[in-house]
Amino acid sequence: MKKVLTSMLLASICTGISAANAASGYSDHNPKDSNNPAEFAKEFRNFYYQNFPQIPHDKYNMGVYAFNEDAYSQYKDMMEFPPQDDYIAKGKKFWEDYRLPNGKPLSSCVGEAKGLRAKYPYFNIKDGKVHNLEDDLINCQINAGVPKDESLGSKKAYNDLASVSAYLARMSDGMKVNVEIPDDPRAVEAFNNGKHMFFRKTGQLNFSCADCHMYHATQKVRSETLHTGIGNTTGFPVYRYSKQGMFTLNKRLFGCMRDTRTIPFKQYSSSMLDLEYFLAYIDNGLEINGPALRK
Ligand code: HEC
Repeated sequence: MKKVLTSMLLASICTGISAANAASGYSDHNPKDSNNPAEFAKEFRNFYYQNFPQIPHDKYNMGVYAFNEDAYSQYKDMMEFPPQDDYIAKGKKFWEDYRLPNGKPLSSCVGEAKGLRAKYPYFNIKDGKVHNLEDDLINCQINAGVPKDESLGSKKAYNDLASVSAYLARMSDGMKVNVEIPDDPRAVEAFNNGKHMFFRKTGQLNFSCADCHMYHATQKVRSETLHTGIGNTTGFPVYRYSKQGMFTLNKRLFGCMRDTRTIPFKQYSSSMLDLEYFLAYIDNGLEINGPALRK
């Protein structure tokens, strides 16, 4: 039954979009050809500034609340008793109490909590990979001898992972996203691969992220308003009211891909991390404001 409903919803998203497509009149200026990350990011952001002058730059980290007043007023009601607080408290306790098999805390791998979230994602020139905060916590445990199915990466520990992530986001609240692309061709390649993920059409519906979050951003698809391509990462992890749970960025991206009926990349796979790197670089200069709350 759930499958049938999902298909119906997607069919209507699909119809909504093709109808909207004709009416949108957006600039079809497509910046995907620039291979220089800084230049590309500038053009990419300009697309949004030009098409959505009603959204001030520093409000992009609010997602749909930056431009949809109804959604914003619902948000304010939901925030009377912020459901994130419980996760933050649990995450703080976990962070302080947990010990690796060698008796050391998680900070022995990744550093102190204050400002830690703001250092991620980053490209590590030692191993040539993009690093994500949750993935580094999981690997910290695994490298210290914790079995994978006992680690924060296991299904049963997901709530602990999401809670720690929520606590760490709060400990970087108000700091600015500052993702660097080091002078290393592998870092540029990771960014461009992430960009490719964003524009790549895929799945049975043949949609790219850009189809929804760029060319149809701010439009309504049934009860959902599509947010823009800026501010994808600032609020994560995000508590989703409709699902009554805290979502890490990788889990959310996985879900968004699955909903468009494609085979999603695995969480923390190199493709997923490259996509995160791309999205976060676009968010440079915005304030981190997680754990955020969404419908
Ligand atoms: C068929 C349209 C569609 C496609 C394609 C799509 N999304 Fe989404 N996405 C949505 C909708 C609808 C939501 C929920 C409303 C919103 O925040 O835009 C959403 C939510 C999200 C969120 C959560 C935002 C928040 O503030 O909580 C992220 C991040 C995201 N999408 C990223 C992506 C990425 C990256 C891709 C490509 C891999 C993608 N989406 C592809 C429709 C789509």
